[in-house]
Amino acid sequence: MLLNVAGGTLCALILFQLVANVVADDPYRFFNWNVTYGTIYPLGVPQQGILINGQFPGPDIYSVTNDNLIINVFNSLSEPFLISWNGVQQRRNSYEDGVYGTTCPIPPGKNFTYILQVKDQIGSFYYFPSLAFHKAAGGFGGIRILSRPLIPVPFPDPAADYTVLIGDWYKSNHTDLKAILDRGKKLPFPDGILINGRGPNGVSFTVEQGKTYRLRISNIGLQNSLNFRIQGHRMTLVEVEGTHTLQTSYSSLDVHVGQSYSVLVTADQPAQDYYIVVSTRFTAPQVLTTTGVLHYSNSAGRVSGPPPGGPTIQIDFSLNQARSIRTNLTASGPRPNPQGSYHYGLINTTRTIKLVNSAGQINGKQRYAVNSVSFIPADTPLKVADYFNIGGVFRVGSISGNPTGGGMYLDTSVMGADYRAYVEIVFENQEDLIQSWHIAGYNFWVVGMDGGLWTPASRSQYNLRDAVSRCTTQVYPKSWTAIYMALDNVGMWNIRSEFWARQYLGQQFYLRVYTPSTSLRDEYPIPKNALLCGRASGRRTRPL
Ligand SMILES: *[C@@H]1O[C@H](CO)[C@@H](O)[C@H](O)[C@H]1NC(C)=O
Ligand SMILES: *[C@@H]1O[C@H](CO)[C@@H](O)[C@H](O)[C@H]1NC(C)=O
Ligand SMILES: *[C@@H]1O[C@H](CO)[C@@H](O)[C@H](O)[C@H]1NC(C)=O
Ligand SMILES: *[C@@H]1O[C@H](CO)[C@@H](O)[C@H](O)[C@H]1NC(C)=O
Ligand SMILES: *[C@@H]1O[C@H](CO)[C@@H](O)[C@H](O)[C@H]1NC(C)=O
Repeated sequence: MLLNVAGGTLCALILFQLVANVVADDPYRFFNWNVTYGTIYPLGVPQQGILINGQFPGPDIYSVTNDNLIINVFNSLSEPFLISWNGVQQRRNSYEDGVYGTTCPIPPGKNFTYILQVKDQIGSFYYFPSLAFHKAAGGFGGIRILSRPLIPVPFPDPAADYTVLIGDWYKSNHTDLKAILDRGKKLPFPDGILINGRGPNGVSFTVEQGKTYRLRISNIGLQNSLNFRIQGHRMTLVEVEGTHTLQTSYSSLDVHVGQSYSVLVTADQPAQDYYIVVSTRFTAPQVLTTTGVLHYSNSAGRVSGPPPGGPTIQIDFSLNQARSIRTNLTASGPRPNPQGSYHYGLINTTRTIKLVNSAGQINGKQRYAVNSVSFIPADTPLKVADYFNIGGVFRVGSISGNPTGGGMYLDTSVMGADYRAYVEIVFENQEDLIQSWHIAGYNFWVVGMDGGLWTPASRSQYNLRDAVSRCTTQVYPKSWTAIYMALDNVGMWNIRSEFWARQYLGQQFYLRVYTPSTSLRDEYPIPKNALLCGRASGRRTRPL
């Protein structure tokens, strides 16, 4: 990742003059999206959903490594709106990340064209609405980035390739849920689980006997880790958030909130229909379960028998499974050279950051924090304020790189970091629930996880050879997870809990990866079409 060569051969001047901050050589794909409210009935009761071009979930984005995606989003809602692209790294271009710290919201009735490049990426990801509590209403969809034609993929082409979005769901609409959080209360337990926006047996995937299929499973839900399994079938894991994995066979797979996995499933059983089962993890005695159908085209019968049970509270099962997920070092990733040619474990880290999550009350209201700071948004996106040198919006260093042990407080937390640093980040979860952390702008190596508190001696058990590189990692209850990350992407990057109520109530911050250089090789300027808001209103995105 450190070795990315920026910008091809285009000189800086030409690049600067392009309407968009994109590299002209690579193909373009254009999307026009109209975001509206619409009535949906995923759990049998009508509720207000967020649709994209009339669809719930939204359309999948198909792309190939290095494609430029030009996505014109029309906000036909009555509130400001933004879409973020979970796992798309936005190299040198955090302005397009679509979270409130990087991008001004699209006002109701207006539009904004995102200009993304899926630079040096492959794999399965998803997009979602990042503001308010919109994610509880829809507006999400799959993103797949295929390998370029000449780059080998370490398994035969599947007969079909399905997006499978799983997530917990409430019957209440997002405005009601948001109001609960705004009052400083916790959300109740969700009402059900959806597969591709449908309730029990609402979704069916047709397969032909003898053929092999790819399922791209993402947990786009709000809080629960989910176990995924298919009656009578095993799944071969092949890809995790852009990394081709050792091809290991599993009977069920834990997908923590925010994570994406690709599995291959062969229709190698007698021709009938089989249950696809998704159930909540670590919630017992309350366990939510839903089912879909794997339908053989020559099926002799409907689904029968009880849906297979899965793990519920067992942490060791999940931890051992997580440790078994490894990078296939000899397989190609987005580039023709093998994924193992970057020896992440031989590089000395230059800094250790330790992040501890906590929950508590501030002024009588429920809040969540990282290293004691509960994030509150500023009146201007941080990246935009940074670009225009608008003071007073945030302070670099407003969150410590280590837990302070002090009480929780509110701030617009931004941590400074140097471009090209090679950091170790330890997520320590002293709470009795499972966490899931996402870092925007990056993939990182998950070098270790275990129960208890992290100490420097924990390093002796790190996997420095074939750990998986991904963008979202779980941290088990009263446990730690350690990652290595090469800070090779300048910008303002959101680090957040994927537990959405926690994210909403402050369990997030921004990492400002900084270089004094103003070269376009390091970072693009603000997009010409950027909407400007807050204290940046009325500024110009380009000199006259
Ligand atoms: C979006 O959809 C709404 C409802 O169908 C329609 O009224 C509006 O004109 C559409 N806007 C665009 C930009 O297509
Ligand atoms: C809004 O859409 C129009 C095309 O309908 C496009 O020309 C314009 O650039 C878009 N606005 C932004 C801010 O991207
Ligand atoms: C959300 O649901 C409540 C009822 O719980 C209803 O009063 C409100 O109008 C709904 N909001 C929207 C925007 O549909
Ligand atoms: C790793 O990738 C190589 C190269 O594509 C492939 O031949 C091999 O089967 C893979 N190994 C495993 C265990 O997945
Ligand atoms: C890492 O640090 C060790 C001890 O300080 C040193 O001996 C080694 O050469 C360093 N390795 C690299 C790759 O810089």
